[in-house]
Amino acid sequence: MRTLLLSLTLLIGNVLSRLYMPNVHINYNTLQSIQTIDSHGKAQLSFKILQIPDMHYTGTPSHLCRNPPHDPCHESNMTSYIEQMLDNVAPDFVVFTGDQVEDIEVTHTADEVRHAIDSYTKHVIKRKIPWAMVFGNHDEGSSMSRLEMFDYISSLPYSYTKLGPEWIGGVGNYELHINSPDFMPVFRMYFLDTGFDGVISEAQNTYMRDLALWYRYQDLSAIMFYHIPIPEYNLYDGEVLKHGYQGEAVCNGPQSGLLDNLVKMGDVKATFVGHDHLNDYCVERHQIQLCYGGGAGYGQAYGSPTIARSARVIEWQRNSSKETLTTWKVADGDYTKSAYTLFERSFN
Ligand SMILES: *[C@@H]1O[C@H](CO)[C@@H](O)[C@H](O)[C@H]1NC(C)=O
Ligand SMILES: *[C@@H]1O[C@H](CO)[C@@H](O)[C@H](O)[C@H]1NC(C)=O
Repeated sequence: MRTLLLSLTLLIGNVLSRLYMPNVHINYNTLQSIQTIDSHGKAQLSFKILQIPDMHYTGTPSHLCRNPPHDPCHESNMTSYIEQMLDNVAPDFVVFTGDQVEDIEVTHTADEVRHAIDSYTKHVIKRKIPWAMVFGNHDEGSSMSRLEMFDYISSLPYSYTKLGPEWIGGVGNYELHINSPDFMPVFRMYFLDTGFDGVISEAQNTYMRDLALWYRYQDLSAIMFYHIPIPEYNLYDGEVLKHGYQGEAVCNGPQSGLLDNLVKMGDVKATFVGHDHLNDYCVERHQIQLCYGGGAGYGQAYGSPTIARSARVIEWQRNSSKETLTTWKVADGDYTKSAYTLFERSFN
């Protein structure tokens, strides 16, 4: 009865919001959190996301590695790494945070681009793991536009990637909801396209803010994924990292006001980017954690012979008294879980 009443309230809230904000594209495609029993015998909800950044798939398994950490080194080493990681981490959801495919060579035909897309999506599809993505600056070339790639990507099995509004800048600005087993929303993810140069338009900022405003009655925590870091990812002079390493200078986009916007939205506790393959740290700015995913790419992706290719796990958990968001890195060959708390809050 309580659930029914709550559902009814949510439905009415949605209908009312819709009248006031007709521009918001509500996403009815929801995911489900996992319910387990904790050490106190109480129900606990969780959701484990694997962020895989910067694969730069060409679709040719024998494509040689740039900056190889071992010899021989081919794109096929990335495929082994991703498969091992999926089996080891067993995520509930996978997010590819840009530069999934390498399409800078003008010789690539649309068929080759589709083959490269198949090369990275087949691992999750085979394991029936739901997944989503944002585009990076390399995911488009002369042979296939972002929109065409998007059409193909969203047609693939277990894809939760959504187009979002088409007029605000970029392709694929959207949100995804995670529900409890009784269909109550419990957690949220936002996805943003930072294009080729990291510019986030005023309309994209407004759209994200409208979404947060729309859902504010739910009082949920959220995270955001995009490809190119914002300027606030830069470290202060002498800043000591609490989690992760900086292996290269931050290659951020221009100041587009995203951090200010996130502060206004209020629900986003952490953002996750890629782009700088050798950075895998998190820094806190205005109580929002700004995290890198690392770089998973062997093959055409640049890397370092001495820094292991890596990806990131993000785990959300909630029971009757506490909500926590933790993260850890998964380097190729190293699955030790060294969890770092991004956010937590107590209820009552
Ligand atoms: C990388 O892939 C090659 C085949 O391309 C294989 O011979 C080699 O063992 C792999 N290396 C590692 C470290 O997995
Ligand atoms: C909720 O989970 C936290 C750890 O995240 C634990 O310390 C606490 O005891 C749990 N509370 C209940 C009531 O199960």
